[in-house]
Amino acid sequence: MPLVARDPEHAALLELARDAARQAGALQRERYETNLSIDTKSATIDLVTEVDRACEALIVAKIQKRRPQDKILAEEGHGADDDPAEQAPYRWIIDPLDGTTNFAHGFPRFCVSIGIESIAKDSDRVVGVVYDPLLDECFEAVRGEGAWLGDRRLAVTPEAELGRSLVATGFAYDVHRSEDDNLDRFQRVVKTARGIRRDGSAALDLCYVAAGRLDAYWELKLHPWDVAAGYLIVEEAGGRITDFSGGPPDRSGREVVASNGFVHDQLMPQLA
Ligand code: IPD
Ligand code: CA
Ligand code: CA
Repeated sequence: MPLVARDPEHAALLELARDAARQAGALQRERYETNLSIDTKSATIDLVTEVDRACEALIVAKIQKRRPQDKILAEEGHGADDDPAEQAPYRWIIDPLDGTTNFAHGFPRFCVSIGIESIAKDSDRVVGVVYDPLLDECFEAVRGEGAWLGDRRLAVTPEAELGRSLVATGFAYDVHRSEDDNLDRFQRVVKTARGIRRDGSAALDLCYVAAGRLDAYWELKLHPWDVAAGYLIVEEAGGRITDFSGGPPDRSGREVVASNGFVHDQLMPQLA
């Protein structure tokens, strides 16, 4: 049985987010390993494909049709110019295709990420959906109702030693030119943890912490759409999220440390 939220409003939001993510995921599956038109954005290594844009258009249209009262912020431009003072009940934060470099190279690891915040309730994260179309895995969470993968309730690992932990990270698109390139942190953690992965989808990395496939994950210079859904999925699976100083989860995505909670304090000094 897939997750059905008790609160009817949350149930409706989840259903729409799930439908939109699955529909965009189906398009990614269809266009995977086909000829793509590809442009660059902030750097020559920062790609955007026609499928990123088509997925965003599809998801935004679906939400606007059913919930014209809600705000939407999406990576490829939708909502970027919205007036922050304008009121709305919910805000949808969307990464239409997380893992674009992988998608463009035919490396099978990418997803759709949709997070929803309740603006009325201090922008509390209420629903998160991350869909991996190739594995047909839909990670879902509703505030107070757990994180789920199909009918499996997700829980972080009980691992308490960083030395026995599998940890993931990533590198920002300014890595060629920035000195704050994450390589110093990578070097420290690779010498401490059991293993380290750089798989190229921040949203899936967060879900893998929630699912107990990873014990921890960190990254810097992410964006709200990379983390909006994944944060809630980790939280609802019992994990811990902080910034690099141990402060509350950074919604901007600039500093992200997510873990099972038990290895968090061992990882933090490596990232300082
Ligand atoms: C990227 C991926 C990658 C992370 C980058 C993100 P995109 O998102 O999540 O894993 O390392 O920093 O920007 O561009 O594929 O949506
Ligand atoms: Ca992304
Ligand atoms: Ca993206």
